[in-house]
Amino acid sequence: MKLKARHTFFFLSVLFLAYSISIYMKPLSENEDARFNKKTAAEGRLVWQKYNCQACHQLYGLGGYLGPDLTNVYSHPKKGENLIKAMVKTGSKQMPAFNLSENEMQELVEFLKSTDASGTSDPRTFTQDNFGMIEGHEHK
Ligand code: HEC
Repeated sequence: MKLKARHTFFFLSVLFLAYSISIYMKPLSENEDARFNKKTAAEGRLVWQKYNCQACHQLYGLGGYLGPDLTNVYSHPKKGENLIKAMVKTGSKQMPAFNLSENEMQELVEFLKSTDASGTSDPRTFTQDNFGMIEGHEHK
């Protein structure tokens, strides 16, 4: 009886170790999502932070409220990449123009592409189930 318990313990320990090692060996930078380049998008997040876009814009409804939510601006049929670039380059009456390098601009676009791929943002379109949970809202 005692021996069996020891075997079980040993067996589970080996499983635990093997699983832990397999997780830690997995490279972090692996590009798992084919819809956008993870590394470029991560650089783009830094650009987003550097120029404080969040001060006036929201992602998933969080952020400043001077400008619109940009979570899904990338896939909007009338907006998308061209509008993003144009707005950042020239600004508008209410939005300042930003002097980004070509690299920064591409990274920023990739970041907004990744937020777009992550789901649909407008909380007004969310529906709740009987337990108050938000129902699945997969984008695309
Ligand atoms: C000082 C506030 C402010 C900051 C900072 C700001 N924006 Fe804006 N942005 C606005 C406002 C206000 C609008 C809407 C103005 C308009 O349509 O004329 C806007 C509009 C936009 C639009 C068009 C959105 C749409 O749905 O039409 C994009 C794209 C955009 N901004 C991107 C950015 C990015 C990227 C950054 C950071 C580099 C940024 N903005 C920083 C205020 C800001």
